[in-house]
Amino acid sequence: MKVRPFSRVSATPGAPHGAQAGGLTGTLIGALPVALGLVAVVVLSEPGLSTTLRLALDGVLTMIWCLYLGQLIATALRRDPDAKGAMLLVDLAAVIVPLAALVATLATGADLGGPSLACGVWVLKLLRDSTAFRLVARVLANEAHNLIGVMSLFGIVLFIAALLAYAVERDAQPQTFGSIPQAMWWAIVTLSTTGYGDAVPQSFIGRILAGVVMMSGIGVFALWAGILATGFAEEVRRRDFVNNWQLVSAVPLFRQLGSAELVGIVRALKPRDLPAGAVVCRKGDAGDQMFFIVEGRVSVAATGAPVELGPGAFFGEMALISGAPRTATVTAASALTLLTLHAQDFQILLTNNPEIAETIRKTALQRGGAEPL
Ligand code: CMP
Repeated sequence: MKVRPFSRVSATPGAPHGAQAGGLTGTLIGALPVALGLVAVVVLSEPGLSTTLRLALDGVLTMIWCLYLGQLIATALRRDPDAKGAMLLVDLAAVIVPLAALVATLATGADLGGPSLACGVWVLKLLRDSTAFRLVARVLANEAHNLIGVMSLFGIVLFIAALLAYAVERDAQPQTFGSIPQAMWWAIVTLSTTGYGDAVPQSFIGRILAGVVMMSGIGVFALWAGILATGFAEEVRRRDFVNNWQLVSAVPLFRQLGSAELVGIVRALKPRDLPAGAVVCRKGDAGDQMFFIVEGRVSVAATGAPVELGPGAFFGEMALISGAPRTATVTAASALTLLTLHAQDFQILLTNNPEIAETIRKTALQRGGAEPL
């Protein structure tokens, strides 16, 4: 049986483990031309470069531009409209912005920093391929309502602070607090607790006001940080849950579970990827978890001939049932995606699901006689 549980989510920010590894490699490969291009842009900004080096770096930029032109065409031809939108925008900017800068330079002769500077737009390519960026975008979208609320609070505090500072300080310092917009600069610098020191209240009341504004600033930013941290935690939990759900539904043993029990087991099981040849558990070791194979095969060095187990099978249950050490060494015969279940969660699973308990017990007995549950 070949399980393909990943196809639906592999392009989403929450790509499962196997797909994430591939995504990471893809991101690193995609980042190479960006890094090279940005280094060239930075070096080209040095005034004292030799003509040869300048030409060589321009050549590098031209090659990367051609590569991105190809990528733009490939993205435009993509069938998946969901994946296409933002990618197309980035790919378009990566080609159009340097081209427009080149045309503008040739047409007007104006020094806009040259087309090489415009290649700085390639930094967006890092966002295009970054799952982390997509995660940030989702968190911002999910929390937009709360963040806008805190921003409004920030605006209100800012306005009141500027108004009061103007009222209190304008006579003493007309050059820095002479208008509300001027006082607003002080309010922003104080509220953000940056404190450049270019505008400082002189009066006693002005300083008390400054203290209150600083403390309010800390409060507002703490609120922001709290909302974002909670948003991130929730998004990551949700993403992991969706991924785990797909992995768990690939294991036949769990298909008999009702949705409430399935939710519990999805939370308890942890995905794990292993390369071919990796030892999953060793004979004689203490066992604190059991394993469900989602994808790939393992070789169990059982007494007599080795036994191969494939997708949907489980192992490592005997040590959990009997409390004795592992009875065999289990090795990944191919690249492997497993779900692991810790001893405590294993007991809960068995208590709540007598049918699953029976299946696991029978299998353990067939394999070599772990004590009955
Ligand atoms: P455990 O003893 O916890 O760790 C090694 C695991 O290998 C064991 O649980 C079983 O799940 C599995 N195992 C042991 N013997 C066999 C066998 N003959 N056939 C299939 N699996 C086995």
